[in-house]
Amino acid sequence: SQRTLVLLKPDAVRRGLVGEILGRIENKAGWRIAALELRTLEREVLEQHYAEHVGKPFYEPLMEFMTSGPAVALVVEGERVIEGVRTLAGPTDPIAATPGSIRGDFGTIVRENLIHASDSEESAEREMKIFFPGLA
Ligand code: GTP
Ligand code: MG
Repeated sequence: SQRTLVLLKPDAVRRGLVGEILGRIENKAGWRIAALELRTLEREVLEQHYAEHVGKPFYEPLMEFMTSGPAVALVVEGERVIEGVRTLAGPTDPIAATPGSIRGDFGTIVRENLIHASDSEESAEREMKIFFPGLA
């Protein structure tokens, strides 16, 4: 099975959507939460996480948003979770996301799109080390 790093972004926490989103993840057969923490993310941590986006026009607003309040970081484990959580999330732009997906059901703004999920096995390994350095 696989593991993936998921962030419920500050908009999800602020709007009280943590239970709703975690429920969708937990409802998937055989998937389980392997680590979970509520915390306000530090800029240094996010700079590592979003290193690929440094210099892009949305980078600074993204940093501002992602540090604006507590987020939930978690590791999900199970069959094909990397692709699977991204399918649950829907595409980056919530207006383009199909209703039924997390972004499609709850989002309107590209930056405030509720959830992050690792996009490959390499990203998952890299991102899990950033948010859960102690995880085996
Ligand atoms: P993540 O799962 O959060 O990584 O989203 P993603 O993989 O769907 O998108 P990507 O990695 O390309 O961008 C990271 C995050 O930056 C997105 O989730 C958005 O919050 C934000 N973002 C990406 N592209 C844009 C953009 O064009 N405009 C704005 N305002 N924000 C963007
Ligand atoms: Mg991404």
